[in-house]
Amino acid sequence: MKIGIDKIGFYVPDLYLDMRKLAVAREIEPDKFTIGIGQEKMAVAPITQDAVTLAANAAASILDETDKENIDLVIFGTESGVDHSKAAAVYVHHLLGLNPAARSFEIKQACYGATAGIQMAKGHIALNPESKVLVLGSDIARYGLDSSGESTQGAGAVALLISANPRILALEDKSAYLTADIMDFWRPLYSSTAYVDGKFSNEQYSFFFANVWQQFKEKSSLTFKDFEALCFHLPYTKMGLKALKPVLEEGTSEDKERLLNHYQKSIGYNKVVGNIYTGSLYLSLLSLLEQKEKLTAGSRIGLFSYGSGAVGEFFTGILQPGYQKHLNTKQHTEMLAARREVSVAEYEVIFQQTLPIDGSSLLSETEKDSATICLAGIANNQRQYINKTAEK
Ligand code: HMG
Repeated sequence: MKIGIDKIGFYVPDLYLDMRKLAVAREIEPDKFTIGIGQEKMAVAPITQDAVTLAANAAASILDETDKENIDLVIFGTESGVDHSKAAAVYVHHLLGLNPAARSFEIKQACYGATAGIQMAKGHIALNPESKVLVLGSDIARYGLDSSGESTQGAGAVALLISANPRILALEDKSAYLTADIMDFWRPLYSSTAYVDGKFSNEQYSFFFANVWQQFKEKSSLTFKDFEALCFHLPYTKMGLKALKPVLEEGTSEDKERLLNHYQKSIGYNKVVGNIYTGSLYLSLLSLLEQKEKLTAGSRIGLFSYGSGAVGEFFTGILQPGYQKHLNTKQHTEMLAARREVSVAEYEVIFQQTLPIDGSSLLSETEKDSATICLAGIANNQRQYINKTAEK
């Protein structure tokens, strides 16, 4: 039985910052951000969006009534959780009106969370072929104003519907993974921003890719010639390339040309969104599928997932016939084009707007936010979510 990705939804907040303008404000040469890091725009989340609403908006864009009835497992991968106890998946389950006969929980291992969710979903479908699983990867990447990681922030969510007989990508069984207890990037419970050892994190990312690729080759006997394209977790769009280039030396000149050409297609959305942590790899997959004219059905795509701390995995999928009919390319292009640019000063104000943590209430104006599902504030220590469609 084929199991894999049947639908992919994506949501980005409706505000963005131009990286060149951020560079000028920080007295940095703009080419460092646009060429050296490879980022053009950074998504900015207003106070009316959090990991829950971003994910709910991404999922709402793909689910129909039959999906809502058949989903019996919701797995939410995030490192921007909103509660130490209650899973973000439970809020999303309610906001989308899913069938109550479902399991819902949150999963965490930095940017690896959604991949762990997909692998679990695969096992669940193998045992329950009729069911569908909603896997969410949703985050707001925050390093701090004028910090070393500021240029690699972002916000957004990806929603994946995993099922039997998937219409986009059938996942293959062979997979290679690696865990190592390292401190390259982390966020203690008391901090709203991440701590990072930037250079070390880059080195570890590349080391993990080389390691899991080597393991994968030994397990599968596949080589670069067997891949049409590779997609990477993209904390910034230069990172995957830095990891790939030295390893790709083992490929032929045709392999290099094909994989490097497809790499450029696989960074299109990430370049104008920034790091969305758990969803980044799947945003890269979406960039490849929606920005490349046409890939041949039956092509193999390799996916490299990396979550600091650290866990990495390399796995693969086969493109399904007619996959393009099940993408939402037009909607995603329009959503990105409709965003409003904020100035650096506005971004700095938005960055510092947070919900009170002293038990007091705060209600925000959700009219300015074009999203259907918003965070209206906090009252009685409870986040107040609204679905504008449901209220009409
Ligand atoms: P930095 O110190 O600002 O930048 O740190 P740099 O000095 O390393 O320069 C970056 C690149 O720009 C270099 O290119 C420069 O040469 C180039 P490279 O040598 O790498 O090819 N450059 C220029 N290019 C053109 N014109 C110029 C110019 N000037 C310089 N004028 C760093 C960059 C990414 C480390 C920092 O932003 C950071 O710490 N970010 C956060 C950590 C991160 O993203 N790590 C990535 C791997 S870890 C990961 O992916 C996991 C993560 O997503 C978290 C999770 O799992 O949850 C982060």
